[in-house]
Amino acid sequence: MFALSWNESNDHSGNTPNMLTQTASDVLTDKFGRQITDLRISVTDRCNFRCVYCRSADPENHMAEHKLLSWDELERLARILVGLGIRKVRVTGGEPLVRPGVEEFISSLRAMGVQDLSLTTNGQSLAERCERLVAAGLNRINISLDSLDRAKFEKITRTRSFDRVIAGIDAAQASPLRPVKVNAVLVRGINDDEVESFAEFARERDLIMRFIEFMPLDADRAWTRDLMVPAAEVKSRIEARWPLVPVAHERSETARKYRFAGGRGEIGLIAPVTQPFCGFCSRIRLTADGKLRTCLFSRDDHDLRGLLRGGAGDSEVAAEIRGIVMQKEAGHRINEPDFVPPSRTMVYIGG
Ligand code: GTP
Ligand code: 5AD
Ligand code: SF4
Repeated sequence: MFALSWNESNDHSGNTPNMLTQTASDVLTDKFGRQITDLRISVTDRCNFRCVYCRSADPENHMAEHKLLSWDELERLARILVGLGIRKVRVTGGEPLVRPGVEEFISSLRAMGVQDLSLTTNGQSLAERCERLVAAGLNRINISLDSLDRAKFEKITRTRSFDRVIAGIDAAQASPLRPVKVNAVLVRGINDDEVESFAEFARERDLIMRFIEFMPLDADRAWTRDLMVPAAEVKSRIEARWPLVPVAHERSETARKYRFAGGRGEIGLIAPVTQPFCGFCSRIRLTADGKLRTCLFSRDDHDLRGLLRGGAGDSEVAAEIRGIVMQKEAGHRINEPDFVPPSRTMVYIGG
């Protein structure tokens, strides 16, 4: 029924910002007046999982080493961006923990004064790395877990890492990292039968379980609207079992949050397809090969690596970044008839 090859072996809509004619000078601001305070840095395009909703089953196909920004180059760009008002940094990949040196990079971000420092990981090596990440100054962590059923987890991720990911979640919860968020991308016919189990997981473990609508960013280009499980369906299924109480959220946050009345744990509904949140988007993304992306769904990205390696000074790079941010799209166009998915898929953008 679904075209994904998962059985292979191995408040408001907030959608449309209004065009502004003036801009703030201290914080990066786009032409719609959205302040860009969040940076997501993909430190590698490599990943040790090959999740069906993200990568193909093909062998690793990653960028040549010389194309990647060195840690020094990443640090320099991060410092320039922090100088432009970035306050929140998320380190992503691929899988960020597969690139040696990520802890040192996190320390350097901490030393720059980043206030909110987080990491998105598949959790595979988190149990061993957690202590060092905390020591480096990481504040919080988001871990992907797309099934609570070992066999299904193995089919989705095409790995045998279920126990390791659970151990990673255990380690995160035992550490000072807070909050601990667990992300599941729901795909119809694959893991949509687990909504209630995930909610129970959140309650039992007192963590934040987030349900993400599948987006057209998969390498196999298998996404169809029918494969996406709308957040409204997730909410009503959970509510049928446990009454939910809304939790306040920042305007720019991706998740709509709920706690369980009289219970522990929280859920987050991330609904980019059915309830887009682009109108208050505060995010830009830096890819491992030094491109700045103004939207997850940008058709084009903007090269900063060439500038760095061509000898540009910090103020020149900063001016370029301001200009790029001005070109930030109003939002994604997934729901428009002429939608074209970006050529870079999720593993090259970092979520
Ligand atoms: P918090 O800062 O903890 O709220 O995290 P987050 O939700 O921004 O980060 P995370 O990496 O956990 O993101 C979860 C998922 O939300 C991503 O994997 C994407 O699927 C989706 N997502 C995150 N940011 C955006 C965005 O700007 N646009 C869209 N369309 N989806 C996003
Ligand atoms: N749709 C939605 N989320 C996705 N992710 C990867 N591919 C997709 C997709 N097609 C998410 C993962 C993880 C983050 C790195 O990106 O679940 O949370
Ligand atoms: Fe921001 Fe683009 Fe995501 Fe919309 S789709 S929230 S504009 S990154």
